[in-house]
Amino acid sequence: VLTGDATPPGNRTDWSGTAPTLPLALVLPTDTEQVRAVMRIAHAHRVPVVPQGGMTGLAGAGVPLPDAIALSLAKMSRIEGLDPQAGTLTVEAGVTLQAAQETAAGAGWQLGLDLGARGSCQIGGNLATNAGGNNVVQFGMAREQVLGLEVVLADGTLLPMMRPMQKNNTGYDLKHWFIGSEGTLGIITRAILQLRPAASARATAMVALPDYEAAKNLLAQMRGSFPGALNAFELMWADFYDIALAWRGRVSPFSKATPFAALVDVTGANEAALRDALESAIGVAIDRGVATDAVLAQSIAQARELWALREITGEFSARIQAINFDVSLPLPSLGAVADECSAVILARWPGASVLRFGHLGDNNLHLTVDARSLPNGWEDAPALEAMFYEVIGRAGGSVSAEHGIGTHKQPFLHLSRSAAELAAMRAIKAALDPLNLLNPGRVL
Ligand code: FAD
Ligand code: LAC
Ligand code: ZN
Repeated sequence: VLTGDATPPGNRTDWSGTAPTLPLALVLPTDTEQVRAVMRIAHAHRVPVVPQGGMTGLAGAGVPLPDAIALSLAKMSRIEGLDPQAGTLTVEAGVTLQAAQETAAGAGWQLGLDLGARGSCQIGGNLATNAGGNNVVQFGMAREQVLGLEVVLADGTLLPMMRPMQKNNTGYDLKHWFIGSEGTLGIITRAILQLRPAASARATAMVALPDYEAAKNLLAQMRGSFPGALNAFELMWADFYDIALAWRGRVSPFSKATPFAALVDVTGANEAALRDALESAIGVAIDRGVATDAVLAQSIAQARELWALREITGEFSARIQAINFDVSLPLPSLGAVADECSAVILARWPGASVLRFGHLGDNNLHLTVDARSLPNGWEDAPALEAMFYEVIGRAGGSVSAEHGIGTHKQPFLHLSRSAAELAAMRAIKAALDPLNLLNPGRVL
C-alpha cells in the first residue's frame, strides 16, 4: 500500500492528458485473493476503487479519484501456462501485452492483438478497454482473443469463468460484460487467451495513394488477394505521414509527395513467395491507377522502419500536446468525414495542426490536434470536441472506436448510443455494482 508522495507519477494519470490526481491509497495486490480482500474492505467501508493496468489508456478511465483507492494489477504479472496443442495462454491480468506476445511467439504461436503501447499496457487493461490496434482486420478486437476470464466483483465475489473452450452456450456469456467495461463492472484478475498459429512469413509495404477512394480500393483488393491473411491496413493522411517522416529524420521513399500512404502487412507460409505475391498485387494496383508508388520491405529491419513511421503516436506525449480523437465511421464516408472534420477545425482555428491516421481495415479514424497550435491551448479543447463530435454524430459514426469512453468521451456517448441502450447499460451497472464503487463516474 502506497500513499501520498510515495505514489509513483505513473499511477496518478494515464496517457490521455488528464491532470494527475493522488488516490486515497494505491494498492498493489499480488494475487486474486488479495484483490478480493481489498474489495471486501472497500465494500464494507463504501470506498470507491479505480482499477489500473499499464496506464496507457487514452480516455482518462484509469486516472485516480481523490476519494478512491487505486488498485494496480502490476504485481499480478505471472504467465501461468501455455498449452502448445490447444494454443491457449493463461495469464494474470498484469502481464504486459508484449510479454504475452513474446511467450506466444516462443512457442510457435502468436497473439492476435498488437498495439503501439505493447511494452506497457497490460492484458487486463486491453480486455477492460476491448482494445483494437493493428491486427483487428485479421483477428478482431481484444474480445475475440478471449476464452476465459476471472473477475472480482465490487463486493469481493469471485466470478470464475476460466473455461478454455470456444463453445459454451450455457446462458449469458458473462465474460463479455466485463470486456470493454473500463473497470466499472469488475476487476479482471486472470484470462485464458486463444492464440493463433504463428505466420511463418510476413511481407510489408508502404503504398502511396492519390485519394481516399484509392485507399478503399486498395483495401478491397488486398482483402481479395490475401484472403484471411491481410494482417494490417493502416492509413496515414499526408498531415500525419509528413510529420512522421520529419520526426524519424527520413526522406519519403516515394518519388513525390503523396496525399495518403497505406502501410500494408500480409502473412503467409513462404517469405519469398509472399513478397512476390504482394509485389504483383501492388503492381496491379499501380497499373489500375489505384496506387501511385510503393516500397516493399526487403528485410525485417526495413519493415520495422516502415512501421516506425506509423508508430510515432508513441511519441505524441513527449513531442506535442495531443488532443486525441478515435472514431469509427462507415467505410464509404470515412474519407469525406475526415476532410469535413479537418475543414471545420481549420475554419475556426486556421493555424491548427491536425493529424489524421487510422486503422482503415476496421473503419477506424484517429485525428489528433496539437493543443499548442490552438490560440488558447488546452482551453480550446472543449469547443474543439463539441465541433468534432457534432460532425461524427451527424455522420452516424461512433464517438469511440477502440479507446473507450472513460471521462473524456462521456459527454458525447449519447451521440452513439440510444436512450434505451444507455438505460440497459445502467441496469447492468446497478445489478453488478449497486453501491457504485467500481470506477464511479467513468463510462456512464
Ligand atoms: P489502463 O490505461 O491502465 O486502464 C484502462 C481502463 O481499463 C481503465 O478504465 C481501468 O480502470 C481499466 N482496467 C485496467 N486494468 C483492469 C483490470 N485488470 N480489470 C478491470 N479494469 C481494468 N488502444 C487501442 O485500442 N488501439 C491502439 O492501437 C492503441 N494504440 C496506442 C498507442 C499508444 C502509443 C498509446 C499510449 C496508447 C494506445 N492505445 C491503443 C490505448 C491503450 O494502450 C489501450 O487502451 C490499452 O488497452 C490500455 O491498457 P492499460 O493496461 O494501459 O490500461
Ligand atoms: C494508434 C493509437 C492512437 O492507433 O490508437 O496509434
Ligand atoms: Zn489506434
